[in-house]
Amino acid sequence: LTPQQLIHQLPKAELHVHIEGTFEPELMFAIAKRNQIDIPYQTIEDVKNAYNFHNLQSFLDIYYAGANVLVKQQDFYDLAWAYFEKCQADNVVHTEIFFDPQTHTERGVDFATCFQGLYQASLDAKAKMGITSHWILCFLRHLSEDSAFATLEQALPFKDNIIGVGLDSSEVGNPPAKFERVFAKARAFGFLTVAHAGEEGDPAYVWQALDLLKVNRIDHGVRSAEDDKLMQRLIAEQMPLTVCPLSNLKLKVVQDMGEHNIKTMLHQGVCVTVNSDDPAYFGGYMNDNFVAIEQALALSNDDIKQLAINSFNASFIDDDEKQHWI
Ligand code: HPA
Ligand code: ZN
Repeated sequence: LTPQQLIHQLPKAELHVHIEGTFEPELMFAIAKRNQIDIPYQTIEDVKNAYNFHNLQSFLDIYYAGANVLVKQQDFYDLAWAYFEKCQADNVVHTEIFFDPQTHTERGVDFATCFQGLYQASLDAKAKMGITSHWILCFLRHLSEDSAFATLEQALPFKDNIIGVGLDSSEVGNPPAKFERVFAKARAFGFLTVAHAGEEGDPAYVWQALDLLKVNRIDHGVRSAEDDKLMQRLIAEQMPLTVCPLSNLKLKVVQDMGEHNIKTMLHQGVCVTVNSDDPAYFGGYMNDNFVAIEQALALSNDDIKQLAINSFNASFIDDDEKQHWI
């Protein structure tokens, strides 16, 4: 079996993908047209040319602008359905998907309009493709604690269908500590917790996510490698890191894929997983991410298999269901 064949045929779980980051230009044009909303692009070419990022913020500005055309429940359904079709093509059998309600409620789109569209697509993906999924509500960390509390309140009617809460958007300057009380309240309601930390922020952000937010997983976390004590803790606790190689390359967290530390961390015993983050913006879905690191870092077939096993171990599915895939 070639590495590429192995990557393709292994069942995998995706644990770090933003549904707004799966918005392909073709669908963006179609939805903009039917909602009669102007977008600052004439052609697909224009769009691709705009996707030239130098850091996280330069990406976020374009990512939030793209989400502006999402207005109706059907728009959210179509967005999620298109992502599930990509999962099927890549043999991603389970996915835990972030959504950013504040990106929509701040524009006057109801939480329910957004979430009901997304959730219906996940029900249909289960029924028609056998793909299972969980939804994770992400708070935008550049917005206030009050706004996060209000968003948590809006989520309560849907809480049985939202497995956890997370933290995304501009990391540096918005440390996990800012959301300690919101996360405490979310945990009291029974939500699991995750947080983006150690993508652009230093290891102190990862420590805060662990100690103050009491997260079940760290999203990205690649800068943890700068702190030996932290690495020892991640290994001892088998705290998962949901790593996103193509994202790290496109946002210049690493300058070259050959420098990526995912293989080193895997061999050190960290529970690292491979994920696509914002695949419509970063040039690839799950298997593209696997192939990129396999080629740049010369992964063995055992490395590839371990990464797929980690994806289920680190997931929020029941233990007996995990055993089915591992
Ligand atoms: N980091 C922070 N916020 C995000 C990201 C990311 O990689 N993708 C979408 N929102
Ligand atoms: Zn992310």
